[in-house]
Amino acid sequence: MQTFLHGRDLIGDLDFSKEEVETVLDVAWDLKRKRALNEPHPYLRDKALAMLFFFSSTRTRGSFEAGMAQLGGHAGFIESKSTQISHGDTAREIGEIYGRYYDGIAIRHCDWLAGNPYISEVAKNARVPVLNMQCDIYHPFQCLADLMTIMEKKGRDLRKKKIVVSWAYAASYLKPISVPQSLILQMPRFGMDVTLSYPPEFMLMPEIEQQARDEARKAGTAFEIVHDMDEGMRGADIVYAKSWGPLLTTADGVEGKRLQDSYKDWIMDQRRLELANPDAIYMHPLPADRNIEVTDEVLDGPHSVVFDEAENRLHAQKAVMALTMG
Ligand code: CP
Repeated sequence: MQTFLHGRDLIGDLDFSKEEVETVLDVAWDLKRKRALNEPHPYLRDKALAMLFFFSSTRTRGSFEAGMAQLGGHAGFIESKSTQISHGDTAREIGEIYGRYYDGIAIRHCDWLAGNPYISEVAKNARVPVLNMQCDIYHPFQCLADLMTIMEKKGRDLRKKKIVVSWAYAASYLKPISVPQSLILQMPRFGMDVTLSYPPEFMLMPEIEQQARDEARKAGTAFEIVHDMDEGMRGADIVYAKSWGPLLTTADGVEGKRLQDSYKDWIMDQRRLELANPDAIYMHPLPADRNIEVTDEVLDGPHSVVFDEAENRLHAQKAVMALTMG
């Protein structure tokens, strides 16, 4: 157990070592138990977190805000549009100034090629921990909640368990690639065999795919990429099927949508779920395009763990905040 996380940023999934992630999970389960028992746990009394959003959110905002209150502190919701950022405040101003007001700065900025550099620049200029609430490259808090959920459902020893991270069609918008990227980076460290499945135009960042391969090699686990949704499902213990945009192929929204629309048959349905192992779990970070990306039958069915997964955002985030901001 590595307990000295005070003052640390969490921007990329590999910023915390495996042992540090294990510490986060231990603390998260303790906080989950305390909440279930209605046991007060004000580890961040009188502390304040800035939550700066450049993009919409249901779960991330709610879980950080509620989490800070449960820890005895306060979370300030700041929409970028309501600030002076468009009038000249740069990432340096945000880091320097919010770092003097708040005890932590959490940021969601998903714009392609802009989000991660922005968050990193704030972190460079801040005297307090900077937490990535999702950028164009990573969604580390989603991934911690996912790992926590997988361990709750499949046990702590995940060796020889297969997770398929599969692309699925969506009509709503071109979703960021951060969730699949975080998953393929983190899951090999915990023993899972990773299959990444997508139509060829939906590849992830080559350097992230290479890092995932390297992590799998170090952990002695399998990593493969396939371009057939059915093939990816076969023998999976954990089915994580969601949409993302073809950002590595085109940054043009219209062309991206045209490409996406050519794979409408990549829907997560019951027939595909039955290609996985009989006790497979289905995961999705939400929001999902119901009956387009995933059928109601799967999303609301007995294999789906999406609501436990969403709940675990709260516990995992409280653990990181308590460890880094306490
Ligand atoms: N999964 C997730 O990050 O949800 P929100 O976009 O609603 O925050």
